[in-house]
Amino acid sequence: MKFVEVGGSRMSAIGLGTWQFGSREWGYGNEYAERDAIEIVHRALEVGITTFDTAEIYAFGRSERILGRALEGRRDEAFLATKIFPAFPIGAVVLQRARGSIRRLGVSNVDLYQIHQPNPVVPLSSTMAGFGQLLDEGVIKHAGVSNYALARWQAADAALGRAVLSNQVRFNLVDRRAEKELLPWAQAHERVIIAYSPLAQGLLSGRYDAGHRPSGMVRTNSPAFLPENLALAEPLIEAVRKVAAGHGATPSQVALAWLIRRPHVVVIPGASSVAQVEANAAAADLELSDEEDAALCRASDDFHPRGVREVWPQLARERFEGVAERLRGRGSRGRPAGPQSAAS
Ligand SMILES: NC(=O)c1ccc[n+]([C@@H]2O[C@H](COP(=O)([O-])OP(=O)(O)OC[C@H]3O[C@@H](n4cnc5c(N)ncnc54)[C@H](OP(=O)(O)O)[C@@H]3O)[C@@H](O)[C@H]2O)c1
Repeated sequence: MKFVEVGGSRMSAIGLGTWQFGSREWGYGNEYAERDAIEIVHRALEVGITTFDTAEIYAFGRSERILGRALEGRRDEAFLATKIFPAFPIGAVVLQRARGSIRRLGVSNVDLYQIHQPNPVVPLSSTMAGFGQLLDEGVIKHAGVSNYALARWQAADAALGRAVLSNQVRFNLVDRRAEKELLPWAQAHERVIIAYSPLAQGLLSGRYDAGHRPSGMVRTNSPAFLPENLALAEPLIEAVRKVAAGHGATPSQVALAWLIRRPHVVVIPGASSVAQVEANAAAADLELSDEEDAALCRASDDFHPRGVREVWPQLARERFEGVAERLRGRGSRGRPAGPQSAAS
């Protein structure tokens, strides 16, 4: 395992994201939430993963509970991060919500407490007053933000009066906006970029194409997984596959290795199985060359998916058809119509 050391803490460069734990929108089911998720965390610890990320909003607290249960007795082995959902995050609310997360996780403190998204209405000074108190009380070890532009991250720093350690943002071979300002600033100022959706929600695994799309609301509602965009992604996925083949690795491992080659980057891929978490951890041992990195960047530059505004009619139509399908199913179960019902 590789580690990123900043602000007196040590995070495994490959972490584990736990949005999937208990979240209906991923569609992994109850057995996953009750059994597989626990096994995934245990195996993650065994293969050297120490960075675990959750949020109060994931499955409305269930993800925190599952992660807390899985880490029982092993809290000290983890760099534990959670997030406040910023509905009216004034100081007093921050304190109350942090205590809720701590309770659900079953711990006395977390290593990193992050604001999930900017709240443009509540002043940062008020939010950060809450974070400051949590730091003083030792309830949290570090403050972090998520989905913040650079100027806002710096403003949070100034409002807190100490370092806001990290910014958790979407960063992968499909979306490299973090490279422009956020990453250079993090590298120059002892901060961390926590890359979420490092596999572009599984797109970069190469398992999906226009004829084989994932299920679950997260991805059926995502423009990235529409057939047209999946087809456009083929050359990028092919480039990732080519590099992977040269190392006897998988496309997912290449996608993760490409990210953690960049100093001060930690990735937090989610996992639907124990095998995935094992493979993701092993990506820490994969050394890409500068040439391979450049080839991946070129393929990424050449990928221009169609944006939400262009594809929303298609998404809306699919959603409408899905709802109509469900209603038709419900109708036939509820009404004694047709030959089958008449016979039974
Ligand atoms: N701060 C924020 O706003 C924010 C937003 C999104 C996510 N996050 C965090 O970031 C974490 C990761 O992001 P994400 O879940 O959106 O996307 P991701 O990590 O890019 O994709 C996760 C999915 O990729 C597939 N996968 C994982 N490992 C694989 C492997 N080795 N081989 C093949 N497929 C593999 C799995 O889906 P299948 O097996 O079903 O294909 C898995 O559920 C989340 O759990 C959450 O903690 C934060």
